[in-house]
Amino acid sequence: ASPKDAINVFDFEAVAFTKVPPAHFGYMAAGIDDEITLRANRSAFLKYQLRPRRMRDVSQIDMSVNLFGTKWKTPIIIAPTGGNKAYDPEGEIAVARAARAGGFLNVLSNAGASTIEDVIAARQGEVWFQLYATSSVEVAKQVIRRVERAGAPVLEITVDRNGGRNQETFFRLKKLDPRNCAGCHVHGIGSPQERPNYDGIDMSKVKSMQSSNMTWDFIKQVRDTTKMKIILKGIVTEEDAALCLKYGVDGIHVSNHGGRSEDGGRGSIECLPEVAKVARGKVPILFDSGVRRGSDVFKALALGATAVCVGRPYLWGLGAFGQPGVEKVMDILQTELRGVMQQMGAPSIADIHPSMVIKES
Ligand code: FNR
Repeated sequence: ASPKDAINVFDFEAVAFTKVPPAHFGYMAAGIDDEITLRANRSAFLKYQLRPRRMRDVSQIDMSVNLFGTKWKTPIIIAPTGGNKAYDPEGEIAVARAARAGGFLNVLSNAGASTIEDVIAARQGEVWFQLYATSSVEVAKQVIRRVERAGAPVLEITVDRNGGRNQETFFRLKKLDPRNCAGCHVHGIGSPQERPNYDGIDMSKVKSMQSSNMTWDFIKQVRDTTKMKIILKGIVTEEDAALCLKYGVDGIHVSNHGGRSEDGGRGSIECLPEVAKVARGKVPILFDSGVRRGSDVFKALALGATAVCVGRPYLWGLGAFGQPGVEKVMDILQTELRGVMQQMGAPSIADIHPSMVIKES
């Protein structure tokens, strides 16, 4: 098999399953408990249907978007995911090179197995950084200063991971084959060698890499620490969207972490309209969780997203074929989006009107 054989992004999942150690595949695939939110992320897209407009000139399609002053040729973004070396020896570096080849924006996770400096060098362009605040504000500030010095213009603070999580799919597949993986965080989460972006930072007071003590006051402190743009990742309600605006964040990322935060929730796309009601036109809105098709991207854009991220699809590509796999996954999504925009009569992102998607009654 080669990336060229793939017809859609799901084809990469099947290949990755045969190539990635079961523990690592299980870590990637898992949701929480019964995986109800995980499944809802896919099935909820079916509740939204397209209302195409005809008789428009769609011979030229412009998918470009502007985020904080940078123009990207596409609204599709590579979401931050930890420990990419679990899927390919080159890990985050392969992903960054694929982002460079295709002109995509990529967001490095602070649970990444590569440093921000190395990833920016591989991308040869703008890379955003995602932070888990940890239980220590001081440690968070040091990481923030480091990534700002390295040149990342945007900080995504993930706010939907507070507790321990019951990832049964991961636990089961790990039992099948508990092979270890140096340099990925699937085993030994939080150990220093697996957190290269924390090199040189005193971690002795850090009780948890997660941030169960984080409140809105933390955002004020981050604002005083950095000039980077601040996006909160994991917002799913209008109440929190309103607080994001009140506390002056620069962007809102609607996400349920790909069904990996809490179970029994709504599909992520169902959360987007209420956030858009509050924030559309005020700050950029990013969206992810469950996006597998160009039509999913289109629906999210119509419902208020400025840009749309994917997680597992590019990890399937990475696990299946390394960098060329990531490139092909992103290329397929881009090609699908172009086709949907033509069918919908929307030659540019600005032409994607809310009336082009309705929720089934
Ligand atoms: C993630 N995600 C994630 N998010 C984050 O803010 N920091 C992280 O380190 C990770 N790590 C991570 C690992 C793996 C294996 C997965 C699958 C996901 C969540 C990610 O950014 C994104 O929100 C989801 O992946 C989007 O859902 P889909 O596209 O996977 O359905």
